[in-house]
Amino acid sequence: MPVLRMLQRVVGQMLQSPAGGYRAAVLPGRVLGTSSWHIPADANFHSGSLSGTDRPPRVLITGGLGQLGVGLANLLREHFGTDNVILTDIRKPSDQVFHSGPFIYSDVLDYKNLREIVVNHRITWLIHYGALLSAIGETNVSLAKAVNITGLHNVLDIALEHNLRLFVPSTIGAFGPTSPRDPTPDLCVQRPRTIYGVSKVHAELMGEYYYYRYGLDFRCLRYPGIISADSEPGGGTTDYAVQIFHDAIKNGKYECYLKPSTRLPMMYIDDCLRATLEVMEAPAESLSLRTYNINAMSFCPEELAQEVLKHMPEFQITYKVDSVRQAIAESWPMNFDDSNARKDWGWKHDFDLPELVTTMLSFLDPESRVAQAN
Ligand code: SER
Repeated sequence: MPVLRMLQRVVGQMLQSPAGGYRAAVLPGRVLGTSSWHIPADANFHSGSLSGTDRPPRVLITGGLGQLGVGLANLLREHFGTDNVILTDIRKPSDQVFHSGPFIYSDVLDYKNLREIVVNHRITWLIHYGALLSAIGETNVSLAKAVNITGLHNVLDIALEHNLRLFVPSTIGAFGPTSPRDPTPDLCVQRPRTIYGVSKVHAELMGEYYYYRYGLDFRCLRYPGIISADSEPGGGTTDYAVQIFHDAIKNGKYECYLKPSTRLPMMYIDDCLRATLEVMEAPAESLSLRTYNINAMSFCPEELAQEVLKHMPEFQITYKVDSVRQAIAESWPMNFDDSNARKDWGWKHDFDLPELVTTMLSFLDPESRVAQAN
């Protein structure tokens, strides 16, 4: 067969189905090395889920000391056993985190260190939480490029090399001012204008490319702004929706850096972590996409403040707009269309705005100086 025609056939098959049967032949350079190792034909079914092997997955979480890692580790440890979930970060854990289950140092920029951990701990699922968020990324673009892009490349290659199921979170920040914003569907124009957003679109595309080209079991959810009580985000644009609760309890007032009418999609952390577990456990055949929007609610600062006021009639909100974060927020979705996640793998949120506010306030103020809103 002429070379050109053969090439066309190979590429055509690859574009139509994951891996297209060419997994063993086409591996990225770093993975190929000098050995004759290749990906088994049934790669998708050896990722360590309970249903696939009757053994729980062995999970590694990168960036484990950010807003979500400890909460996800707790949830996964309840399901799969404490020792089967390893938290990693470059920072020192608190005593509480250190004594609640396996924790080890890992830098996503250190390929060999990451590979050693995956091998020594026989990891089967990798949750890649290591990243710089939107606002902080704009203050240190070169670090954001390194962590969010080079780190992702390391993780992708290691996941492929060791046949892992890989989860990478994406975000509302993966969209930009030219995307439809109300609502934003899964598939549409994505031209974000932050390094964070650009790196997340890159992650979505690279993960999907590895899936179609090599059969990597890549799964990705676009998270809305996540609101949590016992862990704080760092350097995001949606952080106001966390800080408002802390300041309300501590000082009875909050100065907001976004305009009162800036609407963004949001979610309580318990919903976010459960969604992550559910999409990781979903049968491969139920996934019509490898990157899904997930959503729970959508509100703006003045609506959130109104809801807080129902519990704390003395609460005061003032506004001092930060132009960088305001511009970022105005380029992001106002509402997220997550109908594909709901249809394909049964996504359903539990927390709407009233439950979110009640839960946050009673968590942060267990003595309950806060009035019940009725
Ligand atoms: N919470 C993130 C941020 O504000 C968005 O994904 O940067």
